[in-house]
Amino acid sequence: MNYTSEIFLSKDDGLLIPEIGSWGENKYQIIYDYNVLFSTGMKKIWHNRIYIDLYSGSGKARIRNTNKILNSSALLALKVPDQYDKYIFCDIDENNINSLQKRVNNEFPSSNVSYIIGDCNKKIDDILNEIPTYSTNNNVLTFCLIDPFSLEIEFETIKKLGENRLVDLLILLAFGMDGKRNINLYIKENNNRIDNFLGLPDWRERWIIEEKNGTNLVTFLANEFTNKMKSLNYSRYTINNYISIRSDEKNLPLYHLMFFSKHPTGYKFWEKVRKRNIEPELEF
Ligand SMILES: C[S@@+](CC[C@H](N)C(=O)[O-])C[C@H]1O[C@@H](n2cnc3c(N)ncnc32)[C@H](O)[C@@H]1O
Repeated sequence: MNYTSEIFLSKDDGLLIPEIGSWGENKYQIIYDYNVLFSTGMKKIWHNRIYIDLYSGSGKARIRNTNKILNSSALLALKVPDQYDKYIFCDIDENNINSLQKRVNNEFPSSNVSYIIGDCNKKIDDILNEIPTYSTNNNVLTFCLIDPFSLEIEFETIKKLGENRLVDLLILLAFGMDGKRNINLYIKENNNRIDNFLGLPDWRERWIIEEKNGTNLVTFLANEFTNKMKSLNYSRYTINNYISIRSDEKNLPLYHLMFFSKHPTGYKFWEKVRKRNIEPELEF
């Protein structure tokens, strides 16, 4: 997969451009790689290929302390050679969605796009209503990107997404960025961030034991989350299915990108992306 830099590099257009860390470049490469394989590979088999971005952002991002502006997940998904049949973008920040909508109208006026403003965990029914109904004459396959700042995605949302639907998921789990730093806060009985993320009220007891056994928190949460995904029939090939992204400054693990599918083809695509990105090359 050789891409021209125009796919990733962008310019200031006067609309909202949030700042990100430099490791975002690597994330965008991975997201774009998977989108290209999925949208082209599935084109002939599925009548409706749907892209959902639950934490869509505004379509562009600026690398912190630089003037480098990149197309972010939502615009990258529109830039694939074989566009999806429908796009559903959700963001809690109205300004992000307004900027994204203007950009899409300018660059991709004929694409089929729905916008939802609000917390994706609360708006999940509205999001699901935007997915066409499946029938044998009108089959539907969905790819959903989940890219929050922290562990704020709720397991119940992921469960609802996949109920009676085929949905492949690429989930950014900000273990290092969020879970690890805030563990002392989250471990308190009155904090339910990790309870909601795992859909489990009883993780604390297991964590206390695992911590004593020397397990690190990232491994613990990744294992707990993977086991929960298995309970939803995302059961195959879930071992070693993540890409770990490290911060450039301290080389600390910041987040894992984890992929889940109910079908082996999804994992074939993901394996290609993983092999290509395991030793990240940050040149666009
Ligand atoms: C890490 S940014 C990801 C943006 C984008 N995917 C990208 O490629 O850069 C997270 C985004 O999620 C939005 N957000 C935060 N909490 C949210 C929630 N509960 N539901 C939907 N969007 C949310 C933020 O406004 C922000 O734009």
